[in-house]
Amino acid sequence: MRVYCGKDYEEASRIAANLIAAQVIMKPDCVLGLATGSTPIGTYQVLVEKYKSGELDFSKVHSINLDEYRGLSPENDQSYRYFMNDNLFNHVNIKPENTNVPDGLEKDAEAACKKYDAVIEQSGGIDLQLLGLGHNGHIGFNEPADAFAKSTNCVKLTQSTIDANARFFANADEVPKEAYTMGIGTIMQAKTVLVLVTGSGKRDIVKKCFLGDVTPQVPASILQFHPNFILVGDADALGDNFNAFL
Ligand code: GLP
Repeated sequence: MRVYCGKDYEEASRIAANLIAAQVIMKPDCVLGLATGSTPIGTYQVLVEKYKSGELDFSKVHSINLDEYRGLSPENDQSYRYFMNDNLFNHVNIKPENTNVPDGLEKDAEAACKKYDAVIEQSGGIDLQLLGLGHNGHIGFNEPADAFAKSTNCVKLTQSTIDANARFFANADEVPKEAYTMGIGTIMQAKTVLVLVTGSGKRDIVKKCFLGDVTPQVPASILQFHPNFILVGDADALGDNFNAFL
């Protein structure tokens, strides 16, 4: 595990964006695994700045997003497809046809998951996977479970995740109860995994995930076994817990 600590949200976002930018510069036709949630918004803003200043070219980049709410259309402003278009894709020169998000409107869960696994396979594999962290240690929408999910799966969201994400909806009842998510096996196959955590609210769970026991009850904990795992956080999220790695 490599750890980088920014003094605040802006600095942590810039560190994460620099790592992603380095990946795109080193391999212009790379496959980026992308995440939603409030944490990576600042990172996407820096990537857009870098594109606008001519530093970055996304014309050959492919992207594969982690997850999507089951039942939400791309036009729904709470869908993760909408989020990605709004925060990144519409502002850089990535080709829309090279961007992938699970199909929230596919009613047949098995078909939706198979289709997404085929997309991942055809991409040749993810070079760099960006991840946020849920308050219960979930990555993508892989909730605490008895086993680590290998491939794309349809999950029932836990009440804590529904409550955490309710802030984006009119009320908790409107939060979809299910989602399609890339599996943890697929995340582990990415060549590089970059977890971004910010804010004091994440301090306990980051410690539990990366300094605690590896268990499917804390899904992100398996990243301790990833050979190229980078943790980027701000001082509020990392505290003094990761000083030995800095
Ligand atoms: C959602 C997403 C995750 C994200 C998590 C944390 O559940 N599916 O990919 O990491 O929220 O979100 P935030 O960054 O807003 O704390």
